[in-house]
Amino acid sequence: MQDNFGRTIDYLRISVTDRCNFRCTYCMPEQQTFLPRTDLLDYTEIALIAGRFIRHGIRKIRLTGGEPLARRDVDVLIQELGRHVQSGALDELTLTTNGSRLSYFAPILRESGVRRINVSLDSLVPAKFNAVTRGGDLDQILNGIEVAKTSGLGIRINMVALKGVNDDEIAPMAKYCATNGFDLALIETMPLGDGVSGRTGQFIPLDDFIRPLLEKGTLTPLDHRTAGPARYYQLEPLHLRLGLITPMTHNFCGDCNRLRLASDGKVHMCLGSEFHVDFRDAIRSGGMEAVDRLLQKALRLKPERHDFERQMEDKDLRLHRHMNATGG
Ligand code: GTP
Ligand code: 5AD
Ligand code: SF4
Repeated sequence: MQDNFGRTIDYLRISVTDRCNFRCTYCMPEQQTFLPRTDLLDYTEIALIAGRFIRHGIRKIRLTGGEPLARRDVDVLIQELGRHVQSGALDELTLTTNGSRLSYFAPILRESGVRRINVSLDSLVPAKFNAVTRGGDLDQILNGIEVAKTSGLGIRINMVALKGVNDDEIAPMAKYCATNGFDLALIETMPLGDGVSGRTGQFIPLDDFIRPLLEKGTLTPLDHRTAGPARYYQLEPLHLRLGLITPMTHNFCGDCNRLRLASDGKVHMCLGSEFHVDFRDAIRSGGMEAVDRLLQKALRLKPERHDFERQMEDKDLRLHRHMNATGG
């Protein structure tokens, strides 16, 4: 599949729920309204849409949230999608999680064909972790990550860079990841949604965030790529593979390969745009032909790039959608 700008689209991110047991400060406000459950696609509908997208060329699927492992019986969907990995139709099925339910789900993920996962972890200091997530228990997450590791899942830690919050923790986080054999991805915070605290004040460019690492180490660019926007480097002498995700300071939209299916059936063509097409009625009453037509429309309308730089500066330009609606 190609969009109007000649980009190959082979990566589908599926947000299975916009709900989450955390309220990360950079993701959503403390009082957040979620979609009514009656608005959600059921697992059969999600699997049908995903299957159709796979027929048209999707090779990688990532489940996101909110917290994907918080939706009831999500293992049913994971097993269903896992069949496409077993048949060779999909190269990868994976997910991004906050880790809170990993100790239960990790073995199930592995059995369903998941080989690596991304886990959000912004701090290794219990009180700070609790404050950023507004309630998270660091020990529970570290234990979940440990179970995932022993289940044979490859792990990338996602750390959102926050000035004055975790910019003193880059070295310990790098060490923790290197010691455990995890990759580490650092992420510049993006301005999505209203009423999210400390947004502009906490933004820090990754060039500044990683400076403490370069005082004692060296970074060498790697050819390694995953499905998403991270650019990878080898950090020595730690032997750490470090991914940098820089939506604000080094735009990567020219390489964009993805669409996002939200839990209510809307497909968002760009994280930084309100553009979407709605697959819920199509799957309920129009059948596969309607799904195919909408998919072509989504490809045609996919924007060339996001404009987070201006949205960071000007509140009036911001999207109303919060990050938990699409899972990043
Ligand atoms: P890999 O397959 O491991 O490369 O995963 P990924 O980076 O695609 O997924 P993940 O869910 O771990 O997302 C990491 C960060 O990248 C999150 O902050 C996402 O919001 C961000 N991200 C992913 N895709 C896009 C995109 O198309 N545009 C922007 N601006 N950010 C994105
Ligand atoms: N900016 C950047 N990344 C974010 N994430 C959530 N909100 C934001 C934001 N405003 C990250 C989470 C998770 C991934 C899916 O997106 O930390 O790792
Ligand atoms: Fe939940 Fe992830 Fe948002 Fe944190 S960033 S509140 S874990 S969806």
